[in-house]
Amino acid sequence: MNAENMEYLTIALPKGKLFKLSAGLLEKIGYEAEGLSEKSRKLVISNEEKKIRFIITKTADVPTYVEYGAADIGIIGKDVLMESGKDVYELLDLGFGRCHLMMAVPKSECRERLSDYAHTRVATKFPRIAEMFFTQQGMQMEYIKLNGSIELGPIVGLSESIVDIVETGTTLKENDLEEIAHIMDATARLIANRVSFKMKFGRIGAMVKDLRAILESEAGICES
Ligand code: PRP
Repeated sequence: MNAENMEYLTIALPKGKLFKLSAGLLEKIGYEAEGLSEKSRKLVISNEEKKIRFIITKTADVPTYVEYGAADIGIIGKDVLMESGKDVYELLDLGFGRCHLMMAVPKSECRERLSDYAHTRVATKFPRIAEMFFTQQGMQMEYIKLNGSIELGPIVGLSESIVDIVETGTTLKENDLEEIAHIMDATARLIANRVSFKMKFGRIGAMVKDLRAILESEAGICES
């Protein structure tokens, strides 16, 4: 790690649904930078006074930047983290971005048992997690990797089922799909590069402590 990298804390934030909540949470502990916006065309945004650098990346790339140490810290959904298989420290469950991963099929073609879908095609953005799940169920499947609009798969006959995330359930409902198996719950996580965690232990440790305090105080407000 060179002197400049050592001086800064670089944080990878995902574009998309988690960006606003992630930036908002970090702002509460004083981790902010002028012009930090998902829409910014500037990809590295620094706070020179606090020696913080934010990088804004495609959601699926956050674990890669963190694993290779291009970012010290990152915020990412547990679903994307697990799918990536990247070797990083998971420091904190941030609680937001709650969703779950599930298997769904067209309502009109619902089979009796899960095992009735063995050897069929499943469309998904999460082939790794899907394979872990079906292997646990003793099922061999054919995986079709898609990058978005997964729900389209069974509607147009590309696959018999999907494995995808559900937040509100609206997309499933609007496309006449039915959830038939729950795979895992997911929320946003704070992750760290393994070397950075040791080399910048003081800064990262303080950050985790501050975040934990905020999360606990907000949980307290919700409970009362
Ligand atoms: C995700 C997911 C579902 C949808 C679920 O897609 O893949 O399609 O959100 O949300 P809901 O339960 O609230 O309807 P996303 O919006 O990330 O876009 P994508 O389809 O392009 O992946």
